[in-house]
Amino acid sequence: MKQPTFNTDRLTLRPFSRDDAENVQRLAGRKQIASKTIPIPHPYELHMAYEWIGTHNQLFEKGEVVNFAVTHRLEKYLVGCVGLNINKKYEMAELGYWIGIEYWGNGYCTEASKKVLEYGFETLNLNRIFAYHFGSNPASGRVMEKIGMKYEGFLRQAIKKWGKFEDSVVYGVLKSDLN
Ligand SMILES: CC(C)(COP(=O)(O)OP(=O)(O)OC[C@H]1O[C@@H](n2cnc3c(N)ncnc32)[C@H](O)[C@@H]1OP(=O)(O)O)[C@@H](O)C(=O)NCCC(=O)NCCS
Repeated sequence: MKQPTFNTDRLTLRPFSRDDAENVQRLAGRKQIASKTIPIPHPYELHMAYEWIGTHNQLFEKGEVVNFAVTHRLEKYLVGCVGLNINKKYEMAELGYWIGIEYWGNGYCTEASKKVLEYGFETLNLNRIFAYHFGSNPASGRVMEKIGMKYEGFLRQAIKKWGKFEDSVVYGVLKSDLN
């Protein structure tokens, strides 16, 4: 099975290719991105972007992860990434995303994530999609609310990032919530 490509009003969501590596490094390499996420390293070297993109096909084929390059629909440039970490056994997935700083506040994350939720429920047949954000990252929580996720809980000091404990806030949505 090949990873699909989707269009929304303003965006195209497509698989990453090696050609995206420099832009991934430039956008995801900013400290403000790494500081709000668990897996993104800082500094972010170019080889890390190549390695990360190089994992995508196999993880998609195994049904474990799907990452979409979020690009501007008309002008084609990379805006960010939205993905799902899939747990097939429990028919659920964790949603994750980042958007390049220069593109924040345009509703891009909301627009792309809505499409990825639709894909998760309708094509991957998931039952539940959830997401976590740091307590210090209310913008991400706002995205979760805007895409129809419900607040499920607040995990005090659940993560240690760069030597500092961070609260973790969890949101979730069920397929039946959207019917
Ligand atoms: C979180 C992130 C993906 C949002 O991307 P985006 O494209 O700017 O998101 P959107 O424009 O769709 O929505 C952002 C919402 O947050 C709101 N917001 C921004 N800063 C906020 C703040 N400090 N407090 C509360 N809400 C805030 C915006 O006003 C907007 O809501 P609105 O449409 O009701 O006005 C982006 O900031 C990012 O990549 N951050 C770093 C990485 C990250 O946090 N990833 C997620 C880890 S859980």
